[in-house]
Amino acid sequence: MNVAEAVATRRSIRAFHDTPVDLATIRRVLDRARMAPSGCNFQPWRATVLTGKPLAALQQKLLASEPQDSIEYSFSEPNQSPRHLARLKELGACMYGSLGIAREDTALREQVSRQNLTSFGAPVLLLCHFERFMGPPQWSDVGMWLQTIMLLLREEGLDSCPQEWMALYARLIKAEIGVADEEQILFCGVAIDHRDPDAPVNTFERPRVPLDEQVRFVGWE
Ligand SMILES: Cc1cc2nc3c(=O)[nH]c(=O)nc-3n(C[C@H](O)[C@H](O)[C@H](O)COP(=O)(O)O)c2cc1C
Repeated sequence: MNVAEAVATRRSIRAFHDTPVDLATIRRVLDRARMAPSGCNFQPWRATVLTGKPLAALQQKLLASEPQDSIEYSFSEPNQSPRHLARLKELGACMYGSLGIAREDTALREQVSRQNLTSFGAPVLLLCHFERFMGPPQWSDVGMWLQTIMLLLREEGLDSCPQEWMALYARLIKAEIGVADEEQILFCGVAIDHRDPDAPVNTFERPRVPLDEQVRFVGWE
């Protein structure tokens, strides 16, 4: 698989097959991802990768809990901007539309969202956390590292779903995995497994903004 194929075939998978993923594969991917770039070569990323009983135990607790009161960080600031809110709504229409769930059916939509808590059936969950003193440039570095991982997973025939949803339960998760809440922020999870290729939620067309709306080309003939 070349890079363009890895980029094109990566998508956020929300229905997995729950098939075994071996440690050697995960280690190979994460070992290769160490070569991701970072400003000043700080390599700010850290993670805990769960499977088996510890993952099941965490999921039981998540299912029995409510999102924490004080937020770990806000991921919904762009909702203030109509242009960005429209993109979120479009995603919702595509995703819930693929499942035949109407816009007004908030109960069913919430039920689908709650599947985040069990990482859509994936047997492996990478939890990405790092020191609280990291600023926006380091958050961006972590994003590059995560995308490197997700593309390398494609090369291994594996799929993923990044999950900032996990941050809604950050304190519970950090207590469970032994990460000090006062020292580290929990950014997101990444669910890892093989996709169910027939699930409509894995096949809807993903909307994207046209290139020329996002990028200006200056000085070109
Ligand atoms: C940092 C990050 C966090 C995300 N968190 C979630 C999440 O909690 N739940 C979810 O279903 N999708 C989540 N997504 C997936 C996005 O919705 C998805 O990337 C976007 O709709 C584009 O679709 P694609 O990844 O299939 O190309 C997240 C993506 C990123 C990059």
